[in-house]
Amino acid sequence: MILLHLFFLLILHHTPVTLLEFRYHSNQEIKEYLLQVSAGNPDITHLYSIGQSVRGQELWVLALGVSPGQHTVGVPEFKYVGNIHGNEVLGRVLLLHLIDDLVRGYRNNETWSLQLLNSTRIHIMPTMNPDGFDSSDTDCMYSQGRFNHNGMDLNRNFPDAFAAQTLEEDEREAEVRAVMGWLRTETFVLSANLHGGALVASYAYDNSNRGSELINGASVSPDDDVFVHLAKEYSYNHATMHNGNRCAESTPFLHGITNGFEWYALSGGMQDYNYVWAQCLELTLEISCCKFPPVSELPGMWKDNRKALLSFIQQVHLGVKGRVFDSFGAPVQNAVVDVVGRRNICPFKTNQHGEYYRLLLPGNYTLTVMVTYPGYEVLTETLTIPYGPDHYSALKHDFFLQNATTTTRQPSSPRHSITCNHSVHLSAGGASVRAVWTGFAVVLFMVALSVDN
Ligand SMILES: *[C@@H]1O[C@H](CO)[C@@H](O)[C@H](O)[C@H]1NC(C)=O
Ligand SMILES: *[C@@H]1O[C@H](CO)[C@@H](O)[C@H](O)[C@H]1NC(C)=O
Ligand SMILES: *[C@@H]1O[C@H](CO)[C@@H](O)[C@H](O)[C@H]1NC(C)=O
Ligand SMILES: *[C@@H]1O[C@H](CO)[C@@H](O)[C@H](O)[C@H]1NC(C)=O
Ligand SMILES: *[C@@H]1O[C@H](CO)[C@@H](O)[C@H](O)[C@H]1NC(C)=O
Ligand SMILES: [Zn+2]
Repeated sequence: MILLHLFFLLILHHTPVTLLEFRYHSNQEIKEYLLQVSAGNPDITHLYSIGQSVRGQELWVLALGVSPGQHTVGVPEFKYVGNIHGNEVLGRVLLLHLIDDLVRGYRNNETWSLQLLNSTRIHIMPTMNPDGFDSSDTDCMYSQGRFNHNGMDLNRNFPDAFAAQTLEEDEREAEVRAVMGWLRTETFVLSANLHGGALVASYAYDNSNRGSELINGASVSPDDDVFVHLAKEYSYNHATMHNGNRCAESTPFLHGITNGFEWYALSGGMQDYNYVWAQCLELTLEISCCKFPPVSELPGMWKDNRKALLSFIQQVHLGVKGRVFDSFGAPVQNAVVDVVGRRNICPFKTNQHGEYYRLLLPGNYTLTVMVTYPGYEVLTETLTIPYGPDHYSALKHDFFLQNATTTTRQPSSPRHSITCNHSVHLSAGGASVRAVWTGFAVVLFMVALSVDN
């Protein structure tokens, strides 16, 4: 009898994931949970830290996929980041349950999980602001704990392409620097950061300098069609978000989505930084009216969000992906892969493996590939792009550059007024712009007191 008991204990000990309770785990408990999952499932999980918070807590990330420890050419990188505002806590809970669900599904040979982990590398960071969480109260609306240990709002601390006044590098918080470094290491394609205090899927841009991007009160990006699709993918797979009117205190959102700037402008947000500098399309998901929901509501909230969280990951397979090779057959890094008609502030460039990823809705698109080597001409090809998410792969298309030393190369006009290499931000804001901006910033500040993004 004792032996049998021991046997069961051993079995339990080797169960890939122990039962995950619906409650608020401390930062220490999250770490223990992630350690346990990664130790039990080394074939599909890899635990790493991207750096430390101001108070020295590790910023843990669990990567999931069939090759969790490193990038595989052709496999897109996806991420979810929770709890950037320390007192907006539902994301912490849901992301742990998402990990549990993916791992459990894979261990049970469930097709949806096998296909997702086979085709995608998914990075999950339950908390980007562990220090803020430690100091937060459990109030629904109040913002004690929103900021990091230095009292800074991490979602206002990134470089901003539109802001006239930019932060100095030494004003950048540790948590933000860690995320910026992370974006340099991985070629992220799609991402979302999870917030609370509203129920809406918000998309780029969050800011504007009142240039040509400003259309009817929205700050419209070149990939607006894709962003609207992505936001609806979340809101319509969510139990109620698409109804647009769940939180009594906010204005109704048509389809449960909004352009970030149209809702309210903000400078230094993580979403615009991901999109403008890292070519990663990111959504800001506001997933609960109450910032710190009662524990009894957590199971229902997981149920409301589960399908949306999973189908949003699958959208990383929209569009087209592939590699750029030179005339010797070697992959080319830093080749610019443009989609005609989409003038992105910073260009989409191939990574060290010569890879590019472009999220696009089904249709016909002309792509141009440019390199700076002498003797290479601009390569232009038109592609018919199908809907990739259903079969877990974007269209695969490689570009083979020709060495055309006899043709004169078109001089490409410089179109980037900002430094697009991820580390520095230069802005060409004139005095008049600055003056307008200062007045505008006062309004922003007042609005910021009442909103949650
Ligand atoms: C899942 O499939 C593998 C390989 O076919 C098999 O070894 C394993 O027992 C299956 N697991 C379950 C829970 O069905
Ligand atoms: C995983 O991917 C490989 C190759 O990409 C494919 O052959 C295999 O069928 C896939 N398995 C599942 C379960 O999707
Ligand atoms: C895309 O191009 C193909 C082939 O030229 C054509 O048959 C199709 O109608 C086009 N589709 C769209 C949406 O324009
Ligand atoms: C292009 O071709 C010329 C002539 O064959 C050769 O000298 C040159 O090295 C080639 N350059 C590249 C970048 O392939
Ligand atoms: C990024 O830009 C800065 C300033 O122009 C420069 O000093 C730095 O070397 C660049 N880094 C890379 C990786 O190109
Ligand atoms: Zn927030």
